[in-house]
Amino acid sequence: MTYSGRKIAIVYSTVDGQTLKICHVIASLLNKNNLQTKLYPIDSFQEDPLSFDTMVIGASIRYGKHNTLISNFILNNRDKLSRIKTAFFSVNLVARKKDKGQPDSNPYLIRFLNRVAWKPDLSEVFAGKLDYPSYSFIDRVMIQLIMKLTGGPVRSEKPIEYTDWKRVEEFGWKICKINDLPDPAGQSL
Ligand SMILES: Cc1cc2nc3c(=O)[nH]c(=O)nc-3n(C[C@H](O)[C@H](O)[C@H](O)COP(=O)(O)O)c2cc1C
Repeated sequence: MTYSGRKIAIVYSTVDGQTLKICHVIASLLNKNNLQTKLYPIDSFQEDPLSFDTMVIGASIRYGKHNTLISNFILNNRDKLSRIKTAFFSVNLVARKKDKGQPDSNPYLIRFLNRVAWKPDLSEVFAGKLDYPSYSFIDRVMIQLIMKLTGGPVRSEKPIEYTDWKRVEEFGWKICKINDLPDPAGQSL
């Protein structure tokens, strides 16, 4: 594969793997489009952000918050991040709701970007996965409560994946675009 010379880091925080699954889809699309892309879990990211053309940061919500390692990383590197291209996405279950499923309507994403006082070039929110069978008793009760409050299912024997993969792909294309790659109309993964 001939790379464009552009280097992309995707730094992520995941607990049950859904954010990582989204990162893999984005990385695959970027790599196929000649952007040299590598995935890094936030707890082992040691590189200098300035050694990349673009940093993509993705994190899931757990009990109303993104991993503090993610917010600390952004707070500690805001200056460097302002000198490269950046994209951020949040993964949560509230985003499955139409009225809370956009970057300008998802309360977690809005609150987070305000709190770290950061404006990435791209921001996005994806609905995550609901997996009652895998939750501990306490987590199950808490998620049931969240679901009850937001009109979602309070039981399911199978995991429910709310992630809109087409939208993930579109986000990948937007990352290509901010790296000056032409709009690949009609292409897909
Ligand atoms: C213990 C726990 C707490 C969660 N808290 C919230 C929450 O407060 N709000 C929300 O919208 N989603 C919440 N979620 C849903 C997750 O954000 C969703 O399952 C997501 O897909 C997890 O991504 P990950 O596997 O990358 O960690 C919670 C999930 C778990 C298991």
